[in-house]
Amino acid sequence: MTNIPRRSLAAGVGLLLGAMAIPARSQQLAISATTLRLTAKPLTFNPDKVKGLSADLLRRHYDEIYVSAVKRMNALNEELAKLDFNEAPAETVAKLKSEELAAYNATILHELYFDGIGEAPTQPAGLLAQALSRDFGSLDRWKAEFMATGRSLANDDGWVILAHSPRDKRLYNHRTASTSEMPAGSVPLLAMDMHRHAYEKDDGNDAAKYVEAFMQVVKWTNAERLYREAMRV
Ligand SMILES: [Fe+2]
Repeated sequence: MTNIPRRSLAAGVGLLLGAMAIPARSQQLAISATTLRLTAKPLTFNPDKVKGLSADLLRRHYDEIYVSAVKRMNALNEELAKLDFNEAPAETVAKLKSEELAAYNATILHELYFDGIGEAPTQPAGLLAQALSRDFGSLDRWKAEFMATGRSLANDDGWVILAHSPRDKRLYNHRTASTSEMPAGSVPLLAMDMHRHAYEKDDGNDAAKYVEAFMQVVKWTNAERLYREAMRV
């Protein structure tokens, strides 16, 4: 599982020493700046034992996309920690903050995606199964909506996200055509990656085939745990 993001003591000390030689206004900013260091979560399944999505596809997706997002997040954190926001051009702030949001969402959503895949797929159970039936009419109707939303992204890179809204006390299937879009205030429970890199190697352009395959490998115990935790919010 994921290591909890830790603040880098070394980076903090370096910033503190550096702050001794710079003007007072920037010094205040530098002293308060810290650098987060994220660590990639290991896969919770053996890719060789997942039926329907090839091991090569899953490993490349994890190594080349997810781990890269974590590294990008760390690099951006370092850049932002060094930035003097009183002096930085607006375009520099815009670029870094936009990239930070995209890298953050890519990190979180890929962790959710991989945590939702299992060697021994399950069916929704318990409180979450009850909520799916309550909010969508039936499990079958929830599944039909989730899958149709995925197929609707065949020509767009994006995500389908099953999320709990604490505000509305109900579940939603959200469609995002950008990693920088996320349902405000909601707790994501299950994510289906609809970027081409998630299926092209196995299924070419056949997004519908991939959606079918993904639904066959969902490990619902992760979404059920997240839902129980969300209900305690
Ligand atoms: Fe992805």
